[in-house]
Amino acid sequence: MPDEHDPAPAGPPTGTALFDAVVNLCKRRGFVFPSAEIYGGIRSTYDYGPLGALMLRNVKEAWWRAMVQERDDVLPLDAAILTNPKVWEASGHLATFTDPLVDCRSCHERSRADHLEPDASGALVCPNCGSTDLTEARPFNLMFKTFVGPVEDEASVAYLRPETAQGMFVNFANVQTSMRRKPPFGIAQVGRSFRNEITPGNFVFRTREFEQMEMEYFVPPAESARWLEYWCTERLGWYRRYGIPEDRLRLRPHDTEELSHYSSATSDVEFAFPWGWGELEGIANRTDFDLKAHSEHSGVRLEYFDQSTGERYVPHVIEPAAGATRTMMAFLLAAYDEDEVGGERRVVLRLHPRLAPYQVAVLPLSRKEELAPLTAEVLAACRTRFVCERDETQSIGRRYRRQDEIGTPLCVTVDFESVTDRAVTVRDRDTTAQERVPVDALLGYLSERIGA
Ligand code: GAP
Repeated sequence: MPDEHDPAPAGPPTGTALFDAVVNLCKRRGFVFPSAEIYGGIRSTYDYGPLGALMLRNVKEAWWRAMVQERDDVLPLDAAILTNPKVWEASGHLATFTDPLVDCRSCHERSRADHLEPDASGALVCPNCGSTDLTEARPFNLMFKTFVGPVEDEASVAYLRPETAQGMFVNFANVQTSMRRKPPFGIAQVGRSFRNEITPGNFVFRTREFEQMEMEYFVPPAESARWLEYWCTERLGWYRRYGIPEDRLRLRPHDTEELSHYSSATSDVEFAFPWGWGELEGIANRTDFDLKAHSEHSGVRLEYFDQSTGERYVPHVIEPAAGATRTMMAFLLAAYDEDEVGGERRVVLRLHPRLAPYQVAVLPLSRKEELAPLTAEVLAACRTRFVCERDETQSIGRRYRRQDEIGTPLCVTVDFESVTDRAVTVRDRDTTAQERVPVDALLGYLSERIGA
């Protein structure tokens, strides 16, 4: 097999160079494109290309696996994005989901007042032109408003959800009674959310349309502190399990002034982004705020009644709320590496095998007809369990390099000997080590290497 030498350490770039390298790789290799690029794009909005769509799906599946599939106590939900305004009135989003906005009278740049640095006299300074001639701050609601049906009047107003969470609160009674659940139990959901962010940016870190992975865990009130701690530990463990190194991850409890209107205690899971620590997930004790608010506004009792003891209470809620798109970016930044193989610099994404767009690449050594039937057989077998790519153009070395750059953990090479000995070479992305494996044992071998 054309060969590789031991990878020599070179080390990835850091800071802005790392950020630029990842953004560039995302565009070049089909992970993330500026949305509607042929029309000049639309500010801070992105489309996920073939590899990005695969990877984003894997991030969501990894979350789903840990939060729903591997547990008895969490049920899935898929609620509507278009929401009745009464939901947002009750949740407090109509009144309080706002940012303070200022406009610069000199250059007309619009900024968030709470993001601006004051000068020595305490006046806010425009980050674009340095002027201190700014308008008064005014509240700006972050929800996208639209109209349902042909008439654009107050009666037909609806909002695109700014979080998936409320879909789970308004369905609490439906889920609890239809599934006969007793607290503690959770409702989990993954989906798009929309916020008219004033200062989106840093690639997909803050966008106006993004994906969330949220779970509302309903507990007896006296147990809420214990469950908050439990979920902080669980969630940190998840990021570690999928490859975020210890020193780039931390849990940061909120100060009292920082808490959202619904929360009695919150801790953020933060990642060391190239520009500093940034939130990946908020884990909040939302108390009984939401269920009580929706009970009051809807007139429908949202509580748990224990028939065996006659006890009745409004459950408290622990909410681990993560962003899928933002987390995908963190996984890419953490995985990006550069080293040297055979005297050549290589870019390698050391993604967890379950997050990589492709788990397996099948590479026939040559395009000769002779290798075609066995390549097709191997590919068909691998595709029963993994997302695979077939790549047969250019030299095998170039193909390994291409797979390294997109994070494919294992390459399976079919060569001329394979036809007679029914064995293939499996090559490891991280070590470049190669092993000969019988075709009949291949699926078991790959499953073990790729894991869950
Ligand atoms: N239900 C609670 C809630 O939505 P949040 O902290 O506002 O809490 C949860 O959002 C997660 O959603 C954040 O930690 C972040 O990962 C993601 N997120 C929030 N706003 C985002 C945006 N504009 N762009 C990308 N991700 C965002």
